[in-house]
Amino acid sequence: MARKRVAVLISGRGSNMRALIKAARTKNYPASIALVISNEPAAEGLALARKAGIPALAIDHRRYGKDREAFERAMQAELERHAIDLVCLAGFMRLLTPWFVGRWHGRLLNIHPALLPSFKGLDTHARALAAGVKIHGATVHFVVPEMDSGPIIAQAAVPVYETDTAETLAARVLKLEHRIYPLALKLVALGRVRVVDGRCVIAGSRPPKGALMVPQQS
Ligand code: GAR
Repeated sequence: MARKRVAVLISGRGSNMRALIKAARTKNYPASIALVISNEPAAEGLALARKAGIPALAIDHRRYGKDREAFERAMQAELERHAIDLVCLAGFMRLLTPWFVGRWHGRLLNIHPALLPSFKGLDTHARALAAGVKIHGATVHFVVPEMDSGPIIAQAAVPVYETDTAETLAARVLKLEHRIYPLALKLVALGRVRVVDGRCVIAGSRPPKGALMVPQQS
């Protein structure tokens, strides 16, 4: 089967993008990273992508004023020009219109730094600490018009420690993000993910062993 051509959309640092690039270079990975687009011309990730030999473009949303669709049409033209099959949002901090989301239905993935459906939106780590949750994590999901709400492809969890700050928790979650995004993309690129009644069904997956986390006795 031909490898899927993937575009990664970023706004900043690009560490998830880098994890996807690294995974896509491993043997038999079913996708290649063919394009990187950032809405922020100064995004660090653009330089990283170029260094990795991947076409990387800045499409500054500010040039389109309030016209979100005009910005998205500019992205769409590049996605078509590069014959992109799948789009991964990786720290892409713009809300997308129903037009763009509909155009990429079932082929548009996002990573969110929380265990959805908890903590949609921004500042997820600080909000998780304030809520006193004992487990936090990250989610890869298909994008639907409603923010942070699409069918969940993969999730992973970390314990929350009493000594955590938003920064230490973010760092622990980010390590997991770098593992689950390549895994989720692989499953989608292989055609193993079907959406049934708004939920992802993954062909050939078995329940993980020992996934339950309980507090340690002191
Ligand atoms: C990641 O933690 C990602 O989950 C988050 O932004 C960070 C980007 O880091 N995304 C969102 O908050 C989306 N709402 P990166 O640029 O190093 O991948």
